[in-house]
Amino acid sequence: MPEHFLGTPATAPGPLGPDMLKDFALIRRNPLEFLFKTWRSYGDVVQFPIPKPPTYLVNSPTGVRQVLVNNAKNYDKSTIQYGALSLVTGSGLLTANTDLWRERRPIIQPAFHQKVLDNLIPVTNRAAQRMLHDIEREVSGSVTDIDQFMLNASLEVVGEFLFGSDLSDDANAITAATLEALEIVIKRARVPLSPPQAIPTPGNRVLKRSLRTLDAAVSSIVRSRKGMDSTVDPNEVSHLVDLLLAARSGGQIDRDGIRDEIVTFIIAGHETVASALSWSIALLAAHPDKQAQVAQEARTASALELHVKMAQMPYTQAVFNETLRLYPPAWLITRRARGADRIDEHDIPAGALVIMSPALLHRHPDIWGNPDTFAPERFLDPYPRESFIPFGAGLRQCIGKDFAYVEGVMMLASLCERLEFSYPDGQGLPASDPLVTIRPVGGVKVRTTRRA
Ligand code: HEM
Repeated sequence: MPEHFLGTPATAPGPLGPDMLKDFALIRRNPLEFLFKTWRSYGDVVQFPIPKPPTYLVNSPTGVRQVLVNNAKNYDKSTIQYGALSLVTGSGLLTANTDLWRERRPIIQPAFHQKVLDNLIPVTNRAAQRMLHDIEREVSGSVTDIDQFMLNASLEVVGEFLFGSDLSDDANAITAATLEALEIVIKRARVPLSPPQAIPTPGNRVLKRSLRTLDAAVSSIVRSRKGMDSTVDPNEVSHLVDLLLAARSGGQIDRDGIRDEIVTFIIAGHETVASALSWSIALLAAHPDKQAQVAQEARTASALELHVKMAQMPYTQAVFNETLRLYPPAWLITRRARGADRIDEHDIPAGALVIMSPALLHRHPDIWGNPDTFAPERFLDPYPRESFIPFGAGLRQCIGKDFAYVEGVMMLASLCERLEFSYPDGQGLPASDPLVTIRPVGGVKVRTTRRA
């Protein structure tokens, strides 16, 4: 272990400068694969040869827990990852640092209360039925990119549930704008010297166009609520947008804040769930026996009232969990250490960047048996909850976690009850591309056949 990187003490093993240079192409092409390689070579706490900020990869269950839960007060979100994301979302709940986050979370939380989420079940059910109708308009047995359907359906659910708006007419434009904008800012974050936004490079032009599309969607959402009474009755079920507008009347949030929160929720609530659902179908298409179990469970539960259905589909929920274990959409979580800390016997200096990845922790062989195998059954028994962090952990855990389970499980059940998914000859699981979420390269192209 070297002693210093240009004056920054080395406190954990890790690659040297020349090793990093050799991996430069891999870092740009597939940063997640690079993190896997680094972890396998150097262990659970790794220091990169970067003097400013001192940069660590942490992949032990105790280390991740310390940063996100036990000593969470010592860490904030002033990192390159969240800085890049905020070029699109502004200062919304996801990227907000501690003080702003403390103001916003209580305004927004009521939109995710359990009794409000009951309303999500029929909303998801309608979106699933519409998706089935659209898929079935194509010839039975034809090959379909299920990922595109998932993106549009999950946008429809977010639009109706959080904003009381029908975004379906603009779904293609909004999903394309979201994907494009995120791809550009995330790729920029991988290159230290990107041209500033004001310079009209092709990337910056696309980013500007995508932001215009997202801003137009925000204006249309807010316009559609205008004229409605934006006072909020605490006993009534409220859309997120109404809570935001009421907070504006009370002076707790301004116009830019409302824009930033709406874009944040379009992005955080849309592509993540769509990714998880697309990978679930991709994995089920590769495992017909497990797909048949989901179909059977959905058929048995189909006569039940929508509200009791969720509890009767443990296998479908296990499939969704196992997908989140193998392909956690939010694969990267970063924090900046405000003060010095000690993680697993390694000194972490103030100002350090700490990189964690649910994708790595979820494949840790000390915790998960056969970590690379798709085995939903592992979630039917007690499992290591503290090392399962697809939604993060601690105070900054995902506000949409229960929302994602309702939508994910209901959607999977509806699809598998009616359709059978298989790969065309010679094709299988798509490769993965870690952008903001882990995207399936080229979508998920599967043959859809009506179930007998
Ligand atoms: C499978 C789907 C989802 C996954 C895997 C996911 C993952 C995550 C993760 C890992 C975090 C924590 C990030 C960190 O600690 O740095 C997070 C935060 C967040 N997520 Fe999700 N999410 C999902 C769905 C949703 C949905 C459906 C919504 C909204 C409708 C949402 C909104 C948010 C917001 C606003 C935050 C920031 C919360 C805060 O800091 O208070 N997410 N999500």
